[in-house]
Amino acid sequence: MNQATLHQLKVFEAAARHSSFTRAAEELFLTQPTVSMQIKQLTKSVGLPLFEQVGKRLFLTEAGRELFATCREIFKTIAQFEMKVADLKGLKQGQLRLAVITTAKYIIPRLLGPFCQVYPGIEISLQVTNHERILERMVGNLDDLYIMSQVPDNTEVNFEPFLENPLVVIAPKNHPLSHEKNIPIQRLTDEPFIMREPGSGTRRVVQNLLDEQGVKVKVKLELGSNEAIKQAIAGGLGISALSRHTLLTDSAEFSILDVQHFPIKRTWYIVYPAGKQLSIVANAYYDYLLEAGKKIVEQNTFAISNPVESSQA
Ligand code: PGA
Repeated sequence: MNQATLHQLKVFEAAARHSSFTRAAEELFLTQPTVSMQIKQLTKSVGLPLFEQVGKRLFLTEAGRELFATCREIFKTIAQFEMKVADLKGLKQGQLRLAVITTAKYIIPRLLGPFCQVYPGIEISLQVTNHERILERMVGNLDDLYIMSQVPDNTEVNFEPFLENPLVVIAPKNHPLSHEKNIPIQRLTDEPFIMREPGSGTRRVVQNLLDEQGVKVKVKLELGSNEAIKQAIAGGLGISALSRHTLLTDSAEFSILDVQHFPIKRTWYIVYPAGKQLSIVANAYYDYLLEAGKKIVEQNTFAISNPVESSQA
């Protein structure tokens, strides 16, 4: 078979499938004598006849049937290889558009670094905004993937939990309540409170809990960013309820108060609209995020793994 070429096998496969040299020639845009010549040379390489003519009909010999089955395997494997190469080409370049709620900005950029090292040709855009803006972006189909805590109920989406996102009551380090245990939630009414802006998912969930418990806090300040709220807390302007992740980088100045009904349990989800065809890059990042999320939970750290290692694990 050393002399056989892929082209000959293609011609043979078509002739065997149609039981006709003429139809194989038509399918492959060749002349009938070319088909006959290719099969003659292939027959010589195999060393046994591949077809037999009985009356007007063309049949495969036993060797022909074996070769036909072998050809199918070969072409199937080649097709799979072609698909893999297309995937690899897709990961060499391309765009990844992410939009995440404000609390996820403490972790998602950290998970981009190792991914970009493995796929340096990918261009990334990361939008950080609040829950309501994320919903608007989703309706406009502006991004590939979204990270949010509350999966929309009026839009059809695919989603998967990614990491926990507990909301806690944050006060300055030396706050008088910082050493108390099991603080009744009503005590919050005595403290100046700093709230996120309308449209924020954090604000809605905190407000829901306060309403449920009949607690009316004194909102001293409304701010549109977790970082700004942290600075205000550090400056002694009041306390607030924020994602625990907001303390990831600098917890020294703050204490988490042990208030009843807190932490409010929330989860970050990876979300994309149902029916959206994810790009190869977006798919790879989706898998990487899930894997990284599992590792963070297992190790109880934010140590970031290499996406290649994690996909092999
Ligand atoms: P936010 O998102 O930035 O809208 O408050 C946080 C959340 O929904 O958990």
